[in-house]
Amino acid sequence: MTQDELKQAVARAAIEHVPSGAIIGVGTGSTANFFIDELGKIKNRIEGAVASSEASAKRLRGHGIEVLDLNSLEEDLPVYVDGADEITEHMHMTKGGGGALTREKIVAACSKKFVCIADESKLVPMLGKFPLPVEVIPMARGYVARELKKLGGDPVLRQGFTTDNGNIILDVHNMKIMNPVELESAINQITGVVTNGLFARSPADVFLMGTPNGVKTLTAK
Ligand code: 5RP
Repeated sequence: MTQDELKQAVARAAIEHVPSGAIIGVGTGSTANFFIDELGKIKNRIEGAVASSEASAKRLRGHGIEVLDLNSLEEDLPVYVDGADEITEHMHMTKGGGGALTREKIVAACSKKFVCIADESKLVPMLGKFPLPVEVIPMARGYVARELKKLGGDPVLRQGFTTDNGNIILDVHNMKIMNPVELESAINQITGVVTNGLFARSPADVFLMGTPNGVKTLTAK
């Protein structure tokens, strides 16, 4: 099976987590795109979606799915479905490879359940091989980079990239992420940081992992 076939399989499996008549949270990236395409097939069963990026909003609308403003909702969403760059057996994730980490974290925070969809290559024993994305207010770039170095990482500016919120991304290489919950908070304490791509304080609830032997459902150990 190709990696795209594995992504498609988990996207299809995630549809089982979509309650009828609901508004659901939708992530960003190539795996999330497969999920949006699957949602398009059942669009009459849902009321609409909240998107974690302009790109996902465009794709949802392309399928005729209504995209709602998060602030128009009076209660949390039942489910948020999104990919990850890395995930551990504790359901801690690194996200933001596509630069949508802040909106992803906001929509996930407003959702009762986080369903992570990814192929098995994303399951890792420890986070950190994938550079950790940090969204930063542009004028704080130098200061935040120096602070990230003090935390042991090597921040690199993502060239030619601006987030949907008008900010920059520093990708932090070589970070030893021994305690993702603590590190997530520590980085978010740096003035000028909008948020970072660690999703450890609020991990995924379910991981649908694509393997050549089928989709496996994992929950936190
Ligand atoms: C985007 C993300 C994505 O979920 C993450 O990068 C995984 O993407 P893909 O499904 O393309 O591997 O966090 O900001």
